Amino acid sequence: MPSTLIHNIRSLVTNDPALGRGPLGLVEDAAVVIEGEHIAWVGPGDRAPQADAAHDARGRAVLPGFVDSHSHLVFGGDRTQEFNARMSGRAYEAGGIRTTVAATRAASDEELAANLARYLREALQQGTTTFETKSGYGLTVEDEARAVRLASEQTSEVTYLGAHIVSPDYADDPAGYVDLVTGEMLRACAPYARWIDVFCEKGAFDGDQARAVLTAGRAEGLIPRVHANQLSHGPGVQLAVELDAASADHCTHLTDADVDALAAGNTVATLLPGAEFSTRAAWPDARRLLDAGVTVALSTDCNPGSSFTSSMPFCVALAVRDMGMTPDEAVWSATAGGARALRRTDIGRVTPGARADLALLDAPSHVHLAYRPGVPLVRAVWRNGVLAV
Ligand code: NIG
Ligand code: FE
Repeated sequence: MPSTLIHNIRSLVTNDPALGRGPLGLVEDAAVVIEGEHIAWVGPGDRAPQADAAHDARGRAVLPGFVDSHSHLVFGGDRTQEFNARMSGRAYEAGGIRTTVAATRAASDEELAANLARYLREALQQGTTTFETKSGYGLTVEDEARAVRLASEQTSEVTYLGAHIVSPDYADDPAGYVDLVTGEMLRACAPYARWIDVFCEKGAFDGDQARAVLTAGRAEGLIPRVHANQLSHGPGVQLAVELDAASADHCTHLTDADVDALAAGNTVATLLPGAEFSTRAAWPDARRLLDAGVTVALSTDCNPGSSFTSSMPFCVALAVRDMGMTPDEAVWSATAGGARALRRTDIGRVTPGARADLALLDAPSHVHLAYRPGVPLVRAVWRNGVLAV
């Protein structure tokens, strides 16, 4: 297997406290050896073994590729007008999703696949090496199955979100729509998906409906994750913990009981600051969650409505500036935290045996991701051991 030595790394985030300093396992003046698709060796540069090829990091920082565990990228059209209206004072409502449903249904397979590929490439260029994405803009058996199928051609982390909102075709029969989502639509989508998700919110699905969706998904072999407590307090977070969901996403409106439940359970709190930024909403309180001992992940929520950013560095910067996270915590959450939210142990860390997914920054330290917001710092990206950017 061909090997590559990346040397002259000023500062390396391994996310393994056994390998270096602090929770990020920071190693200074480090080197990494990639062999095939995996990391073979990590350590101080002066002890690095020989390899077939060498890549000089020129005194810059390396970290694990970002793990974006929450996006909605199978869609048609865009929502520029809605964004404009919002920035003129209109509130964000779940109902805007219907605009994208109409545009997605009207798009061809080729258009949807090309759109998805474009945003995955955009994210890769910003250091994202693992991407979860969801259906949820089809809301018919055919359109949802098409969405998960197209997504599965571009990522292994696919989520079935037939329960995004009640389909406009079932406006007078929400119970009938839940039957469809938990029956025929689920059976059509499950072969292409790993996860099942539901938007548990006023105007979308209530706690009982969300429970029905997630338990049906589980019976088909899918693992739950939940859009929880985004726009208001609700039962989503507690339901996620109760059903041992991998992640409760958004977590913007939390009671003390919600925080306690997350701290006691096994469910990651995935915070999506792009959504609060783009909807001018109050920030989720990452500090409160971290202080309570909750595992926090950061993701983009990239979608044409509430958060049209594919940039994990931007989310890191927002989380540090406005959500009470330190730069170290935000970088951990955007890498190792995302891996936890996807129940993956092979990504989100730079340790022997892990997947060789790495980002090289044009900066001496990972702290610059927050310190230099909006600056394109990602200079090189290895994905599965291959230099992809
Ligand atoms: O995560 N909350 C539900 N879904 C998306 C928004 C989708 C949309 O507005 O199109 C979210 O923010
Ligand atoms: Fe979302």
